[in-house]
Amino acid sequence: MEIIEKFRRAGIVPVIKIDDAANAVPLARALLAGGVDIIEITFRTAAARQAIANIAAYVPEMTPGAGTVISAQQLAAATEAGARFIVSPGLDPQLVKSAQADGIVAVPGVVTPSELMAGFKLGLSVFKFFPAESFGGIKTVKALSAPFGAAQFIPTGGVNETNAAEYWRFPKVLAVGGSWIAPESLITARDFDTITRITADAVDLFDAIRGGTNV
Ligand code: 3PG
Repeated sequence: MEIIEKFRRAGIVPVIKIDDAANAVPLARALLAGGVDIIEITFRTAAARQAIANIAAYVPEMTPGAGTVISAQQLAAATEAGARFIVSPGLDPQLVKSAQADGIVAVPGVVTPSELMAGFKLGLSVFKFFPAESFGGIKTVKALSAPFGAAQFIPTGGVNETNAAEYWRFPKVLAVGGSWIAPESLITARDFDTITRITADAVDLFDAIRGGTNV
């Protein structure tokens, strides 16, 4: 299945900061058990590359991607590890072009009309809206959607169980991203059951709004 379709069906992109790559496989399984089959491992820790590689090797049902990708080196490491998509906090046209040349879906972060126009020029239509809550939340997503009807958004940054629903209710929101699904503290504590529970709660809410389109 196409990656964009996977985002749409999952409705949630867990944004992960992981310090020990040995936790990657149980984490991926915990998310799957809760009903989410896509994961963004951020390049904010030295373990990111190995974590992606472990998931790609041992959890074939999970679609791994790399987050916080801001350099060509990180793109290469992510691709080599088996990432199927990259997410960046901002829009770097060169990085997007390199990802496209590698056959990797690039989801850059935008907050302004000019950034969206630069993204369209690169052939993109899916954007991370980041940091979502700091830049006006769903109100800004709706305002941007008026002139840019072809854009689909993955609002991330301050999105959690208390406000995800207002994003999901707007059809131009492809999915929401966030760390609340699998907080670093629960991963470090290896509390995977709680991660499954949080995931399942979020999936229930998403299903109630979008009608059970996920896994
Ligand atoms: C990201 O990189 O996408 C954000 O840091 C995630 O934001 P959150 O921790 O507020 O969910």
